[in-house]
Amino acid sequence: MRHLLDTKHLSREDALRILDVAEDMADTQQREVKKLPTLRGKTVVNLFFEDSTRTRISFEAAAKRLSADVINFSAKGSSVSKGESLQDTAQTLQAMGADAVVIRHGASGAPRTLATSGWITAGVVNAGDGTHEHPTQALLDAFTIRKRRHGADSRGRDLAGVKVTIVGDILHSRVARSNVWLLATLGADVTLVAPPTLVPQDVSAWPARVVYDLDEAIAGGPDALMMLRIQLERMNAAYFPTEREYSRRWGLDARRLRALGADSIVMHPGPMNRGLEISAEAADSPRSTVLEQVANGVSVRMAALYLLLAGAEHSEDTREKETTR
Ligand code: NCD
Repeated sequence: MRHLLDTKHLSREDALRILDVAEDMADTQQREVKKLPTLRGKTVVNLFFEDSTRTRISFEAAAKRLSADVINFSAKGSSVSKGESLQDTAQTLQAMGADAVVIRHGASGAPRTLATSGWITAGVVNAGDGTHEHPTQALLDAFTIRKRRHGADSRGRDLAGVKVTIVGDILHSRVARSNVWLLATLGADVTLVAPPTLVPQDVSAWPARVVYDLDEAIAGGPDALMMLRIQLERMNAAYFPTEREYSRRWGLDARRLRALGADSIVMHPGPMNRGLEISAEAADSPRSTVLEQVANGVSVRMAALYLLLAGAEHSEDTREKETTR
């Protein structure tokens, strides 16, 4: 694997490979000494043009547990045109010898531009680009669902027959997009629930069904109910009348929580707007996987960095052997 840019083009085989390597990584994280020497001498740059708490520290923890050197670079939106500033920054990183660049950017497509521009030779990991994709989030979500269902027996399994319902601000959500593609690839059955104003126009081309009524969706018996954050920062118009009205119709409150089946889980990528899309009761209930998702995120990102960087080293070694032979 050279880059991890999206889940739309990720094969079932590659997705399962990442999830299975993440299982191995998770096992090592139970040990007293969590650090592995695997990426010693490699440099991972976290290039964050947008705010982030958990994704950035998760990638940082993942890289450090694999013994890579980590450089954190946060650059919030400047007045320089996006392409120009990205090129300058990329060339600087190249000159510093970055082996992997983890990028979060407000513009959809920025990671692909970086990966295909020729500005850098590093592997590129998309850590969220605009409203486009957030592949490692979807992978950690799939990992979390699989782990809750199969525990230590998760390796090699896909999500065939698992019913996942994604609720809320689908329109602005890269998490929803990455999840829809990955879940479909892994065989899950995906339902989207949102106010009509927060459903993207091209949704008919997605491998998912759309309903507008959360109670109806819950009555369908989802195995996982994934609540999305209302992305107020991406909203330039009024997509729903009031926050109170939103939470009454599309929020996961105590009544809806009780209506869920005994084994179904409640997910949220964070950061949560408690009281808006999710009640404190739901967020803190034993069904909630919010903190498991955070913990699993480190294992999944370790797997992604490992497959990108150690995989590349392997083929370089082979090339070297071939040329010296
Ligand atoms: C998500 C993101 O940034 O896209 N958060 C995250 O990565 N944990 C979701 C969100 O911001 O709502």
